[in-house]
Amino acid sequence: MAIGIKNEREIDLMRKAGRVTALVLETLRDSIQAGIKTRELNEIAERELRKLGGRSSFKGYRGYPASVCVSVNDEIVHGIPGDRVIKEGDIVSLDFGAIVDGYQGDSAITVIVGEGGLLARSLLSATQESLAAGIAAAKAGGRLGDVSSAIQRYAEARGFSVIREYTGHGIGREMHEDPLVPNFGEPGTGPELKKGMTLALEPMLTTGGWRTKVGRDNWVVSTADGSMAAHFEHTVAVTASGAEILTRV
Ligand code: MF3
Ligand code: CO
Repeated sequence: MAIGIKNEREIDLMRKAGRVTALVLETLRDSIQAGIKTRELNEIAERELRKLGGRSSFKGYRGYPASVCVSVNDEIVHGIPGDRVIKEGDIVSLDFGAIVDGYQGDSAITVIVGEGGLLARSLLSATQESLAAGIAAAKAGGRLGDVSSAIQRYAEARGFSVIREYTGHGIGREMHEDPLVPNFGEPGTGPELKKGMTLALEPMLTTGGWRTKVGRDNWVVSTADGSMAAHFEHTVAVTASGAEILTRV
C-alpha cells in the first residue's frame, strides 16, 4: 500500500485527536502514585477521554480489552491493566490512543514512581531523547531510514538497546497505516519522506538486550532477559524542517 499524505485539513483534525491523547496522558501522569492499581489508571483514562469527547483506539483492537496499555519495569508494551499495584521505584509505560472525528492520536510516556535509580532515570531520558532525535530527522526529502537510524544511534551511544520486533507506524484514519517505522536502520534507505506523512514514532529501549517474550495473556511484551524497558511515542506530521508533534496539549 502507498504511504498516505494528509492535507492541511486532515492534519488539523489529527492535531485535535493528538491534543486529546496528550491531555489524557497528562492526567495519567498526574494520577500515578505508589498504591494505585493499573486498572484504576485505565478507569481514569476512560473517564477523561469521555469528558474530552474521544473514543479509544485501543479498546477492542484485535480484542485488546482496555483503553490504555500499562507496562511495568521489564514489560515493554501492551500490558493489560488489572489488579497489579504500582510500587515506589516502578518504571511505568503508559500508551494511549484516541479517535476524534475519525482521526487517530497515539502516544506513550514512561514515568518513574518516586525517585528511581540512576540507571532507570538515564534509560528514560535516553528513550525520550531518542524520540526527539527521530522527530528532528523526519524531514521532507529525507528517507525513513534517517529516522530509524537517528533513534538507534542515540540509544546505542548511551549504552541501551532498541527493540527490533515492534515498530512505529504510519497513522491517520487507522491506528496502523503504512509504513512500518523500525527503531533501527541505515540512513539514506527506505521510502522518501514527504510533507503531510503522519507517523507514530515510538522507540522502545532496554538496559539489556533487544530480545522479547510475550506473556501468558498473549498481550504483554517483556524483555527476554528481565532488563528494564522504557517507551516514548508521539504522533507527528512530516514537514520540510523536521516533524511537527501532533500529540501535545
Ligand atoms: N500504541 C500501540 C501501537 O502503536 C498500542 C496498540 S496495542 C493495542 O501499536 F492493542 F492496545 F491497541
Ligand atoms: Co503506536
